[in-house]
Amino acid sequence: MFASLLTKRSLATLIKGQDAAKKIMSQVSQDLELLQKAGVKPKVVPVVVGDVAESRIYLDRKRAAALKAGLEFEEKIIPDNVDMPTMLKTIEDLNADPSVHGIIVQLPIPKHLDEQVVCNSVDVTKDVDGFTCRNLGNLVQGVGLGDSFVPCTPLAALKILQQIQQTEDIDFMGKNAVVAGRSHNVGLPIAMILQADHIKGGLDLTTTICHRYTPNEQLVEAVSKADVVVSAAGVPGLIKPEFVKPGAIVIDVGINRIKVDGKSKIVGDVHPDVAKVAGYMTPVPGGVGPCTVACLLYNTVIAARRQSQI
Ligand code: GUN
Repeated sequence: MFASLLTKRSLATLIKGQDAAKKIMSQVSQDLELLQKAGVKPKVVPVVVGDVAESRIYLDRKRAAALKAGLEFEEKIIPDNVDMPTMLKTIEDLNADPSVHGIIVQLPIPKHLDEQVVCNSVDVTKDVDGFTCRNLGNLVQGVGLGDSFVPCTPLAALKILQQIQQTEDIDFMGKNAVVAGRSHNVGLPIAMILQADHIKGGLDLTTTICHRYTPNEQLVEAVSKADVVVSAAGVPGLIKPEFVKPGAIVIDVGINRIKVDGKSKIVGDVHPDVAKVAGYMTPVPGGVGPCTVACLLYNTVIAARRQSQI
């Protein structure tokens, strides 16, 4: 499908997340201007339970991006021995607070809390992570249709694919995709978006989902036929160069911390040598990640506009 791209170059074009994020942020700036004129400053509140080192890195990135763009970012920090009623009351209070436009439950939360119940307690109109069953259900009916929110990482993957589609004038209809990973907040919504009808905001790709129980030969077969590969499995090096169709678009959503020579390093699910085969590839770090943060701000300004009817 994209083999012609490779005749022009020997390495995949790396999609820099910062460049893709800039385009999303220009939309955010336009919306912020409208809100500012009406005296509304969008506020997003992450609910943070305990002190998880990995979460701190994500939160600091979100905070820096929000403040830089001109949004308010106010963490609600809760001790990790919080009980369910107190946790739910905290979210209920944020749901009722008109100065709060977006609420995110920073995951992971301690095991004694029921993650599904906690995430579903966020008001659907403030659910800027798109993790509630209402917003995930809405995604099945149409990508970002009506007043729904698309989860940030799947939205980032969609925005990146749309940008490639525009640059290369690609028609995805009739082409194949594979998604490795079926988590309900990342892999599954990405697959929903890839396979959805363009009329409903999707990409019309014939989409295969692989997961931890997919035999390796089936994964290899699905990847070798795929024009679009998205890996969200959390397995370093899962997607190897010999599996990938020349010229394919490879989106790496994996974030894995590994030790190399005793030093900690972040790597994706895609082997770096895939760059020698693919047409386009997102690096880790610096690919989908920065775009995901931009999508959180994008969802938050949309939430603020809807709540303020602007
Ligand atoms: N933990 C790791 N990534 C995320 C994310 O995007 N949203 C939330 N709420 N928690 C996370």
